[in-house]
Amino acid sequence: MKRLPIAILGSGQGSNCRAILERIRSGDLPAEARVVVSDVLDAPILEIAREFSVANAYLPPGQFRTRLQPEAEEQLVKMLREAGVHLVVLAGFMRVLHAPMLTAFPQRIINIHPSLLPKFQGLEAWKQALAAGETVTGCTVHYVDEKIDHGQIIAQHEVQILADDTPEILHARIQVAERELYASAIAQMCEKYSVPNV
Ligand code: GRF
Repeated sequence: MKRLPIAILGSGQGSNCRAILERIRSGDLPAEARVVVSDVLDAPILEIAREFSVANAYLPPGQFRTRLQPEAEEQLVKMLREAGVHLVVLAGFMRVLHAPMLTAFPQRIINIHPSLLPKFQGLEAWKQALAAGETVTGCTVHYVDEKIDHGQIIAQHEVQILADDTPEILHARIQVAERELYASAIAQMCEKYSVPNV
């Protein structure tokens, strides 16, 4: 099987991106990172891409706060098509995607969220779980649709909430689980979408 060409999109720290690129480098993930794209000019995720010698691009998002300007989203589609991307991996990308991307990559855009969806969508989901008095939370990988943290679930991993957990401690434990879950979900996608060698 050929390695699946992927793009990683993020707005921030890029810890999931780093974990994915490390697994690709070590041969544990049959993917090839073609490009890392960020809507934030100085996002650490772009620096991580450079560290791994992966092509990277800043995409000026335009005037909106929670979505890309339509022209920017069209530009993103063009960029990813030119890079031959077959799977788009969102890793802390803080913009909701719309028709241009969703039409261009149907069932080919995935996201990771730090809760057991459909519970606790939106920001700081680990704090929401704590505030709700849950004893178990976790993380979810799902296909992306037009709604925030919504779409068909691909995989989930439970994380216990302990009596003396602070938001920071719980978040850190979820992040460890996220890296494992995302790697295994991407591996699953590689199997599903890989093109055989001809
Ligand atoms: C991830 O932990 C994920 O839960 C959420 O955004 C976070 C991004 O973190 N979707 P990072 O940029 O991968 O460090």
